Amino acid sequence: MLDRIRSRRGALEILDQRLLPGKISYVKARTPAQTAAAIKDMVTRGAPLIGCTAAYGYALALSGKPPRSAAALASRLDNAAKILKAARPTAVALAYAVDRLHGKAMNFLAGHSGGLDAKTHAALKKLVEREAAAVFQEDVDANAALSAHGAGLLPDGCAVMTICNAGAMATAGMGTALGVIKAAHRLGGISQVYACETRPYLQGARLTMFELMREKIPSTLITDNMAAHIMKTCGVAAVIAGADRIAANGDTANKIGTYMLAVLAKYHGIPFYIAAPAPTFDMTMRSGKDIPIEERSSHEVCFIGGVEIAPKGARARHPAFDVTPAKLITGIITEKGVISPVSRANVRRALGASATRVFAREKTAQTC
Ligand code: MRU
Repeated sequence: MLDRIRSRRGALEILDQRLLPGKISYVKARTPAQTAAAIKDMVTRGAPLIGCTAAYGYALALSGKPPRSAAALASRLDNAAKILKAARPTAVALAYAVDRLHGKAMNFLAGHSGGLDAKTHAALKKLVEREAAAVFQEDVDANAALSAHGAGLLPDGCAVMTICNAGAMATAGMGTALGVIKAAHRLGGISQVYACETRPYLQGARLTMFELMREKIPSTLITDNMAAHIMKTCGVAAVIAGADRIAANGDTANKIGTYMLAVLAKYHGIPFYIAAPAPTFDMTMRSGKDIPIEERSSHEVCFIGGVEIAPKGARARHPAFDVTPAKLITGIITEKGVISPVSRANVRRALGASATRVFAREKTAQTC
């Protein structure tokens, strides 16, 4: 699979997913602000990959000439953490990664007040870069472990449905929902993956189909409004989706349209699974009602590939995520095993200390 992020001559190169599958091109970021802009503008996307990108973007604050004092460097790092965390509000992996690196850096600086020599600065840079690499590697490992757990849930040769892209293009590794599908295909064969196109950004059409076809997994692209018909007529054995943030009771925020699939799956008696690594759980959110839902520009709904598809001036909404209630989720597949039934007690038991705790709550305006 293509590199989604890579380091080249002091810059972070980010695969421009907006151009896939037509063009393979990288956007360069040399500062945390440029990294935050790339995340906000959807150059890269997918919760775990946003977290990894932000981690390496934070490390860029330590490139170039070091400031004279530890206090000046702390203020530069505070600013980097703030702008990166503000890039997108729903995926908790972003805050998780930035808080983790920022905490390490601040602890280090606490022991080095006063002047800042080049050696100390270089030691901090190394520490932060090592932590960014750890965030990346942990996601690779979590993807592999949860994919193996999830594959065991699927009958051999079954058909499944997914939405958005929760594959390699959204993670550091083989993917979450798509990781499960890939692992199941290696084990017993998947007869068909129905990939919802995922309006308005078309992550399903552009990225999931790209990955599935490269892996030679039988796959069929459907528009989002075909989901009920396909569930009724095509023997779909399971629906599997990723997650951007999971509340302490198991309510799950994921790409807009996921909730619709969960309701449809319930009606058709089809198991509905969420696949996500432990840092996706935010134990400070009691339920899905607390999860901030990103409201993106309505321009993204009214235009496709630069062509306006609604009357000029049409009012449109673009909530980028929705929340699926825990009671519609058959199981949450994590690297620690499968949480099923999904309840507050089972989430706490499965996750223990490894769940994410993000204390700064973001608020997003929502207008109905
Ligand atoms: O807006 P996006 O493309 O960042 O949304 C991505 C999703 O909703 C994914 O399903 C989710 O981040 C899980 S990725 C493993």
